[in-house]
Amino acid sequence: MITRDLQVDSEGKLHHFLTIDSLNRQMLTEILDTAESFAGVTEQTVKKVPLLRGKTIVNLFFEASTRTRTTFELAAKRLSADVLNINITQSSAVKGETLLDTLRNIEAMHVDMFIVRHADSGAAHFIARHVAPHTSVINAGDGRHSHPTQAMLDIFTIRRFKGPDFGRLRVAIVGDVMHSRVARSQIHALNLLNTGEVRIVAPRTLIPASVESMGVRVFNDLRSGIQDVDVIMVLRLQHERMKGALLPSEHEYYELYGLTEKKLAHATGDAIVMHPGPINRGVEMDSEVADGPRSVILQQVAHGIAVRMAVMSLAMQRHPGGTE
Ligand code: CP
Repeated sequence: MITRDLQVDSEGKLHHFLTIDSLNRQMLTEILDTAESFAGVTEQTVKKVPLLRGKTIVNLFFEASTRTRTTFELAAKRLSADVLNINITQSSAVKGETLLDTLRNIEAMHVDMFIVRHADSGAAHFIARHVAPHTSVINAGDGRHSHPTQAMLDIFTIRRFKGPDFGRLRVAIVGDVMHSRVARSQIHALNLLNTGEVRIVAPRTLIPASVESMGVRVFNDLRSGIQDVDVIMVLRLQHERMKGALLPSEHEYYELYGLTEKKLAHATGDAIVMHPGPINRGVEMDSEVADGPRSVILQQVAHGIAVRMAVMSLAMQRHPGGTE
């Protein structure tokens, strides 16, 4: 069980960042507001602040990543930290070294923070339990459990485009909710902000059992699911996590659930379209939509830098000596 205690210290300050579900609204808002203050840094000529000078941050990615790994690296560099990227495929993990041994050996190099992505749910939590007390762990995606910084950058993007009053918003999450760590984190974050209505839209085979207990409305039809929504968050089909044939074919999925300009007309006139990436074009959505005027997909990526700067600086603030 991932507890709130593991994420925050005795004073309620962020220590690790593993999951959204145990945050409260105040902490979530603090991350968003801190990210807002960092968004300006990324637009300056000199894109650096000295907050984490002298700190060592290690990117420990056991699973492929483009956006998350690079934006964490950029965010750490913009905070003036030293960043080490461990290439797992060329590390001793491929010779059978255990996760814990890999961790202990890197930790011996006086690391202050690990950014962890792993195919197993609970991996970041496991690492957080075993690191030295001064070391922070940030979850960059664990199995199908959680991807908290992705959800934070998604919420940050919605707030920038739609304003801070989530109570008046209808949000639809479309696609493979069953295997998605992103969807779980998004639903928790949207609930914390008292979002007016959160819908999930997917074929029955891609909807987890008792998902309604998370306070969402479930739709199996795309057109009615996105009717009058303000935000459409499309998910990737997570083929690597599917066991057996959950879908008849990608073509049929596209016909029923692929977002096209025509289907998009069911949403509000100024609805925004989001996707965490990587996109399967022509399956989850048309290129016309992905590259169209309603798409904020590349803005999501850019916002990832400011949000990850916020999470890293807040997690370091509690350290003796803290941020500069
Ligand atoms: N959204 C996301 O996690 O993308 P990557 O897998 O490229 O990091």
